Amino acid sequence: MSILVTGGAGFIGGNFVLDWCSLSDELLINLDKLTYAGNLDTLATLKGRDNHVFVQGDIGDKTLLAKLLKEYKPRAVINFAAESHVDRSIHGPSDFIETNIVGTFNLLEAVRAYWNDLSGSDKQEFRFLHVSTDEVYGTLGETDEPFSEVTPYEPNSPYSASKAASDHLVRAWHHTYGLPVLTTNCSNNYGPYHFPEKLIPLVILNALAGKPLPIYGDGQQIRDWLFVKDHCAAIRRVLEAGRLGETYNVGGWNEKTNLDVVNGICALLDELKPRADGRSYAEQITYVTDRPGHDRRYAIDARKIERELGWKPLETFETGIRKTVQWYLDNQEWVQNITSGSYREWTAKQYGA
Ligand SMILES: NC(=O)c1ccc[n+]([C@@H]2O[C@H](COP(=O)([O-])OP(=O)(O)OC[C@H]3O[C@@H](n4cnc5c(N)ncnc54)[C@H](O)[C@@H]3O)[C@@H](O)[C@H]2O)c1
Repeated sequence: MSILVTGGAGFIGGNFVLDWCSLSDELLINLDKLTYAGNLDTLATLKGRDNHVFVQGDIGDKTLLAKLLKEYKPRAVINFAAESHVDRSIHGPSDFIETNIVGTFNLLEAVRAYWNDLSGSDKQEFRFLHVSTDEVYGTLGETDEPFSEVTPYEPNSPYSASKAASDHLVRAWHHTYGLPVLTTNCSNNYGPYHFPEKLIPLVILNALAGKPLPIYGDGQQIRDWLFVKDHCAAIRRVLEAGRLGETYNVGGWNEKTNLDVVNGICALLDELKPRADGRSYAEQITYVTDRPGHDRRYAIDARKIERELGWKPLETFETGIRKTVQWYLDNQEWVQNITSGSYREWTAKQYGA
């Protein structure tokens, strides 16, 4: 028995792979292109483990996919691979179209061909789980109901539009070809191994480096925050018991303004690693011009996954953010490798150009 995970050297995929390999002996094949966001350092503790196989490759490479599917005969494919940073999608949307739409299409086609050739219980029990985002639903006003699984799609950024397109493809492959799919749409994740271009790790690292802590616009944008380990548990649960063709919203029940998040991190750092001059890290907060098309509020109604599958998050924002800040303080080597770019040099050396 094995599962194939794509994007397992990224933030959420990496956490999923680490958790899976510590909880189970089942073989996990980890296919990742190793873009700037992929980091093999995250998987360092798996060295020597025989239930993890790493393959560098693209979800758009149908030949490679067919070979891996034939060789390992996975019982499930979990698709984390994506271009995931909204700001980057504004500056250069083409990679987002290529990976999130065309890549998902090629992956679906390769998986469909593999699944078609299965028989009996192998065919019946096979699952394709697609990991997506709450950003496909667009933006909410302050008093609007949170996004549920039946909220219409209204993506506003090239990133969310490309994820929305991939969700539609996954849905269509189920309805048209019968592919046994599951989709999860989650809110903002945070936790260990988060690439420092995203808000929470950026703020922690900039604070410690004495740099400005940039806040877009008035900082009153609201997000729901989900601890990454809770998200990984939700995915395992959906894989195990989710109803075919269904989508499940995964959220942390933790709505916070960006400004509150940044102030919370500053207060924790003031406690855990006070500034040499005794002043608060909050003094480093700097307001910068808002991002174009910046969604005002996201909120997730995660009652369906709780009702049907019994999953709910274990962490509150307060417990999860404390673990996260502590992790960054304790893992300076991982941080230094990522910020110095040495992990990228190593990757180029290891895998060639
Ligand atoms: N981070 C969040 O808060 C969040 C929230 C909602 C949904 N998601 C979704 O969860 C998934 C994982 O997000 P993340 O934050 O871990 O992203 P990430 O950017 O940290 O990691 C993405 C990984 O995918 C790999 N990848 C990119 N293009 C690829 C390709 N063509 N073929 C194979 N591998 C490729 C990268 O090398 C990287 O390891 C994404 O689909 C994202 O849309 C993320």
